[in-house]
Amino acid sequence: MAKRMHEEYPNVVVMDHPLIQHKLSLMRDAGTGVKEFRELVRELAMLMAYEATRDFQLAQTAVRTPIAEATTYVLAGKKVAVIPILRAGLGMVDGILQLIPAAKVGHIGLYRDPETLKPIEYYCKLPEDIGERDILIVDPMLATGGSAAAAVEFLRERGAKAINLLVLIAAPEGIEEVVRCCEGVTIYTCAVDSHLDDHGYIVPGLGDAGDRLFGTR
Ligand code: PRP
Ligand code: URA
Repeated sequence: MAKRMHEEYPNVVVMDHPLIQHKLSLMRDAGTGVKEFRELVRELAMLMAYEATRDFQLAQTAVRTPIAEATTYVLAGKKVAVIPILRAGLGMVDGILQLIPAAKVGHIGLYRDPETLKPIEYYCKLPEDIGERDILIVDPMLATGGSAAAAVEFLRERGAKAINLLVLIAAPEGIEEVVRCCEGVTIYTCAVDSHLDDHGYIVPGLGDAGDRLFGTR
C-alpha cells in the first residue's frame, strides 16, 4: 500500500490508521495521567516506526521450513539510528526499539528558550557511523520547527544523509520551517493541527509533551 502523503505538504506522511488516531485522542485528553500518557507515546512510536520503515530494502533469501524450502526476504539496507530530541523524544525510543532492536540510539539535547522560542543545545552524542545509517529523529511535538531544524542541522554537520522525522503532532508552522531548512527530510506525523498560540504551543495539541511524560508539572 502506498504512503498517504499530506495534500498540501508533499514531504509529510499523515498516519491515519484507526489505532493511531484512537491512541492520539486518548493522549490529547487533559485527563490522561502520566502513566497512561507514557504508554501511549511508546505505543504510537512503535506504530509510527512500522510505517516509517515501509521503504526499507529487502534481499531475497532461502529458508528451510519444516515442510519445504521457501524463498523469503530479509532486511538488507542501511542500519538504523534513532535520535530522540531530549527530553520528550526519549518517550518514543523504547517503542521503536521493540520493532528495530539493533538500532543505535543517539541523543540531541535541546530546549526552547521560553522567551525567544529558539532551540538551545545542551547535549549531543551520536553513533560514530551516523553517515551510514537511516536516521529516525523522534520528538512528540513539531511546533515552530526550530528544534527539529536544529537537530537536522547538527546531524548533517556530522555526516548524516538519510533523515526522517517522526512527530506525534505537527503544526503547519513547524512543517513549513522544516521544508524551508531541511530539504529531503520526510516528516511522519499522526496529525497536522491548526496553529500555534502566542506561547508557541500547538492548538489544540496536547500541552507540554515533556511535562506530561515526566510528570514535571
Ligand atoms: C518541546 C518538544 C520539542 C519542542 C518543539 O520540547 O518536545 O522538542 O518543544 O518546539 P519547536 O518546534 O518550537 O522547537 P521543549 O523545548 O519543551 O523541551 P523538553 O522536551 O525538555 O520539555
Ligand atoms: N512543545 C510542547 O511540548 N508542546 C507544544 O504544544 C509545543 C512545543
